[in-house]
Amino acid sequence: MLRMLWTVPDLTAATGLFLLVALALSLARPWILGSAVDALESASAGSQDLARVATRFGAMFLGVTLAMNAFRFLYGDARGRLTQTIVANIRLRALEKLHVLSPVYYGENDSGQIIARVSRDVQKMRPFFGLVVFSILQLGIIVIGTFLFMASQSLLLASVTVLFFLATAVMLYYTARRLQPLNRQADDMYDGVALDIKENIEGVKIVKSFGRESRQVKRFASKLDDYIRGTIAVSDFWSVRMPVSDSIFGLSIPVILLIGGGLVIEGDLKKGAIVSSLFYAGRIFHELRSLIRLVGMSQEAGVSAQRFFELLDDTNTVPSTESPLALPKGRGALVFEKVGFGYKEEEEIISDLSFNIRPGECVALVGPTGSGKSTVLSLLLRFFDPPRGNIYLDGADIRRLSLADLRSAVGCVFQETFLFSATMRENLAFAATQATDEKIRKAVETAQLGKFLSELPEGLDTIVGERGVTLSGGQKQRAAIARALLSDPRLLILDDAMASVDAQTESGLVHALREAAKERTTLLITQRLSGVLLADRAIVVDKGGVVDEGSHAELYGRCRIYKELFEGQVLETAA
Ligand SMILES: Nc1ncnc2c1ncn2[C@@H]1O[C@H](COP(=O)(O)OP(=O)(O)OP(=O)(O)O)[C@@H](O)[C@H]1O
Ligand SMILES: [Mg+2]
Repeated sequence: MLRMLWTVPDLTAATGLFLLVALALSLARPWILGSAVDALESASAGSQDLARVATRFGAMFLGVTLAMNAFRFLYGDARGRLTQTIVANIRLRALEKLHVLSPVYYGENDSGQIIARVSRDVQKMRPFFGLVVFSILQLGIIVIGTFLFMASQSLLLASVTVLFFLATAVMLYYTARRLQPLNRQADDMYDGVALDIKENIEGVKIVKSFGRESRQVKRFASKLDDYIRGTIAVSDFWSVRMPVSDSIFGLSIPVILLIGGGLVIEGDLKKGAIVSSLFYAGRIFHELRSLIRLVGMSQEAGVSAQRFFELLDDTNTVPSTESPLALPKGRGALVFEKVGFGYKEEEEIISDLSFNIRPGECVALVGPTGSGKSTVLSLLLRFFDPPRGNIYLDGADIRRLSLADLRSAVGCVFQETFLFSATMRENLAFAATQATDEKIRKAVETAQLGKFLSELPEGLDTIVGERGVTLSGGQKQRAAIARALLSDPRLLILDDAMASVDAQTESGLVHALREAAKERTTLLITQRLSGVLLADRAIVVDKGGVVDEGSHAELYGRCRIYKELFEGQVLETAA
């Protein structure tokens, strides 16, 4: 975590410097007071003018105090900037990392946990960079300064104070270590709370439609209960230890008085030295008290950092290709060769999958639900790398291509469409930011969304998504198709992308797509006969393997799975 400080070296150095100056000035103050006591004593004995001594030390004290406060202000300001900058940097790194993590990571970690790590854990790390690091530095300097001052007066006094300090510090250290697992437990429980909030927002329609509001609230309450119990365990732990360590050090003041008083009586120590010593010890005491609080905070920050860096250090990323091949010219020919893959090791979802799609073809990929059609898409995009077999795009093994090349060559419309809270233009030109409005409109026409767009109040500038106009399921799918078209891919894949579109629009869509796509290859994953009939041929998959391929008429006659898939639909059309 400390290394994050070096990402902003200038601010860190400035903060440290201001702190050092402020500290040096504040350490000078007890010394001035002690010297004043001694000077006043000798003045009252008649050797100097009392008023002049008082004025001199008074002015000195005031000057040092003013300067100290000025530097304290500078320190506080620099520290604030430093922590905000670091926190922003950390969040940025987190978001970058979230984009390189493979879907395997998202499969293993729930979204509540991920959101909690990027928002709450980062927030909890903040005091660490600001307060904790510099307070520890401050305490160290004060302890050393005090020790040096006291030792110059009396080694005995210095050793006693330091012993008390060490005893308290050791006790705190062990307390903090035992606190760590408690903190971790409480934080992990928070993930459940975060997930619940998110799911209740996203699932609000389902909750309402089934009238399950009160049950959801109860479930949430029980998760909250767990979390609260976790945090109470943490605070209870502190409430017991805090007064104990506080008292240990509190004992040091009377001990200094006793020992110091004895030394003064014997003439080994000046009175002023006791005054300064008491101030110094009081200062350490004060710092230690705030340190106790900081230890608590840094414990929490430590746990949050642990959780956060687990995210940052996660290696579940698709391996990037070193010295990638250039993408060969082509029109999007796709070959799967004996591909085997499972989301879990023991369970194969795709087995021995082989097919060959020629450049420029429009092929339908059909199969029962759960047969692995969408998985084919994830493998092609290298969301996952299959442990067995090879995939070739225009003759190149996709593992040898750079991810950027591969993904810009393949345009996808996923089964679940997603639009950002942004204008239609930004959503449509998501991968083709340079696209002219004319190009965008053409893609929109091809996607059969022209009428809808013309009816939008602000056309392409209309904001859609959560903060704007809500699109219907079919409109969203067509917007996603326009988005994929605009990236001008050589291989276009529509995963059930016309499921929410009526048959007439679907047929218009496919005709327009075929017209616009003479130069590219198209793969239609579909459950509907109308879709299949528009393709050149169909490939039938079941249980992760190809069972047959051919034209509708051939397949309908000889392939049982194919017939079962489309039987009802044929009857419908016939009737
Ligand atoms: N991220 C995932 N983690 C684990 N298992 C998954 C994941 N995605 C899909 N599966 C499983 O893999 C199998 C194939 O899923 P896939 O989504 O590829 O099917 P599909 O043919 O697209 O189905 P549908 O026609 O319903 O869309 C299913 O049994 C599913 O449970
Ligand atoms: Mg699917």
